[in-house]
Amino acid sequence: MAKCSKSTPPTPSPTPTPPAPQKLRRALLKWYDAHHRHLPWRAEPGQQPDPYHVFVSEAMLQQTQVATVIDYFNRFIGVFPSVAALAGADEQNVLRQWQGLGYYRRARNLHAAAKQIVDENGGRIPDTAEQLLKLPGVGRYTAGAIASIAFGKREPLLDGNVARVLARWHAIEQPIDSPATQKQLWLLAGQLVPAKRAGDFNQAMMELGALVCLPRNPLCGDCPVATMCKAYQQGVPERLPVKLPRKLPKPVQHHVIALHRGGQYLFQQRPSRGLWSNMWQMPTVEDAPKRSQTNIHIKQWVSQHLGLNITPPKQAAQFAHQTTHRTIGFICWTADVESGRLRPGRGQWRKLDKINDLPLPNPQRRVVQILTKTSRSGH
Ligand code: ADE
Repeated sequence: MAKCSKSTPPTPSPTPTPPAPQKLRRALLKWYDAHHRHLPWRAEPGQQPDPYHVFVSEAMLQQTQVATVIDYFNRFIGVFPSVAALAGADEQNVLRQWQGLGYYRRARNLHAAAKQIVDENGGRIPDTAEQLLKLPGVGRYTAGAIASIAFGKREPLLDGNVARVLARWHAIEQPIDSPATQKQLWLLAGQLVPAKRAGDFNQAMMELGALVCLPRNPLCGDCPVATMCKAYQQGVPERLPVKLPRKLPKPVQHHVIALHRGGQYLFQQRPSRGLWSNMWQMPTVEDAPKRSQTNIHIKQWVSQHLGLNITPPKQAAQFAHQTTHRTIGFICWTADVESGRLRPGRGQWRKLDKINDLPLPNPQRRVVQILTKTSRSGH
């Protein structure tokens, strides 16, 4: 695809033309018919997809790229082929199928929503945005996406891609993430979405944002609606949108203690609230970034919290893990248990190749991979 900089935008015009809805809708849908990606949850243009597939895909696509979602989606639908199957599943199994996608609250909400749909709506996914909004984890975006894509309802949606496309078409100079601009963008999206093919139109907006109207190097030469875009007419489309300054993520440290006894390691379930709730991990001390935990602290912590005497812990690995609000420095310690009895309810001993039933957050899986590799190479 051609980069915007290679297809010279026209000289700035003093009175840019506002996008004409009819012409814009037609051009965008025509482009979508020819260029959209064939994805497992999508129906061919003009047809209705399976609402359950749309529901699952929309939950997965929040915060995650299409390319990553495809395999997870196919596996998830294979294990939970219907709303009823998902509603009847065990939460640990749902989390296991989600393992690696991150943002596990989405999986818990999807599971709770399936239960609510079975209990209150006979297993049928609600077909209006108003009803959809009553489900756990369903906000304005998801309600608009499901109502329009699965049921053809004339409902708008606004995600990061759509916001960028609209901000450029209308040359909106205010930060797109401010509440006032968000309100304006929702209004603009609502005015644009057509009565016919509302779902295809919404997907076309997202698709244009994902494939052509890119954040940094927009491919205006391939854009079906460049001539109706104010930012393009003004000459520097990548200048927009502007965003509010971001809060810096908070730095923290997680000390993971790989406790080894007779070929097994200790795993514990995390609390039912907060980050990675109900998932599993090796015992982990969460700490402020600058406080250096020495092996003496770690040994004392294990004795106090777990009732075990261990060999002096050794640092085996360090890496950083980024979440939306935190930069977490992971420090992995290893030690052998010398004596003591594990306090009741403080975890399970497992071989590293026998933990498939435990949902682990990505950085904890990374620790397991590191340990597996080092034990294979004989260290
Ligand atoms: N992002 C979220 N939902 C999407 C969809 N249906 N098509 C393209 N991108 C999306």
